[in-house]
Amino acid sequence: MADASTDLALLESTATTELKDCADELSLRAWNTKYFGDKGEMNTALKALGTLPKDQRPAYGQAVNAVKQRLISAKDQKEAEIKEQALLASLSANPIDVTLPGRAVSAGNLHVATKVMREIYSIFADMGFQIFRSREVEDDQTNFELLNMPPHHPARDMWDTFHTTTPGVLLRTHTSPGQIHVMKQFAPNPVRAVLPGMCYRHEAVSTRSEIQFEQVEGLVLGPNVTMADLKGTITAFARRLFGQERQVRIRSSYFPFTEPSIEVDIDWPKEDPNADRLTKGTGWLEIMGAGMVHPTVLRNGGYDPDQISGFAFGMGPQRITMLKYAIDDIRQFWKNDLRFLRQF
Ligand code: DAH
Repeated sequence: MADASTDLALLESTATTELKDCADELSLRAWNTKYFGDKGEMNTALKALGTLPKDQRPAYGQAVNAVKQRLISAKDQKEAEIKEQALLASLSANPIDVTLPGRAVSAGNLHVATKVMREIYSIFADMGFQIFRSREVEDDQTNFELLNMPPHHPARDMWDTFHTTTPGVLLRTHTSPGQIHVMKQFAPNPVRAVLPGMCYRHEAVSTRSEIQFEQVEGLVLGPNVTMADLKGTITAFARRLFGQERQVRIRSSYFPFTEPSIEVDIDWPKEDPNADRLTKGTGWLEIMGAGMVHPTVLRNGGYDPDQISGFAFGMGPQRITMLKYAIDDIRQFWKNDLRFLRQF
């Protein structure tokens, strides 16, 4: 017993001294293995129990446990000290300036194209139009044929596009095929709808033309819808968007899907220093194509042209946005240059 307890006292004092010398987590871990690992000194000390006479075992066992508890709590304390020191060391090596303002979380903003689209929707919504979404990947039939452009119709030249590997499936060149979808869904009932969305064309890209751009199509169908309704609707729209004093001018034009067809201009404020450039000296600016829906198109959509008439229009909101915000290059819209997008 004398031997064993002397050994135990020595073990505790050595372990305590060594623990004091531990300066970092690595040496602490080594110390832990040495004393508390499977083959560690505490286990060895415990095994010595078996070599003692029976009557000495309980006292020795208690003594071993007491040493173990003291060493463990000393170790926990040391561990906390080491962690604290490591933290202080790293704080003084890489000081944090708590007075610096935090990094602002950027809230972002709507794309200028989205803003103008929403403005357009709300103007038409006030006039009782609903928004109708229509597919961007179309078939030749809907994009052209049902709009009164049979396969070799010369008007197709204006709307060259991107074809998919499936014959007859293409990226729509305008939102007008949406008219067919609307008609098929609502015939023979009256309709007031605007159809916004992306369109695609094979174009020589320039400051005025992109291979992708948005359009907003409008379609109104009902008994006794006339050209006067078209003029009234477009005038109300143009004045809401560009100012109540705007004058609207219509010119005769041609589209296969309307008869008669028109193009719509607004007068541009003469005070604007860009007026001359924008209007090419005429004072007038084209904002859309429009017309009375062609009887063939009405029939293709499931309406009886003797009962129902209607008007349609199509405009390019990017062009309108360029006017409103004096943007001089249409390619900016889909470039995703934040320096451009953040201005609006
Ligand atoms: N789809 C024509 C285009 O892309 C625009 C257009 C003209 C739409 C007249 C219409 C319309 O609905 O009536 O150039």
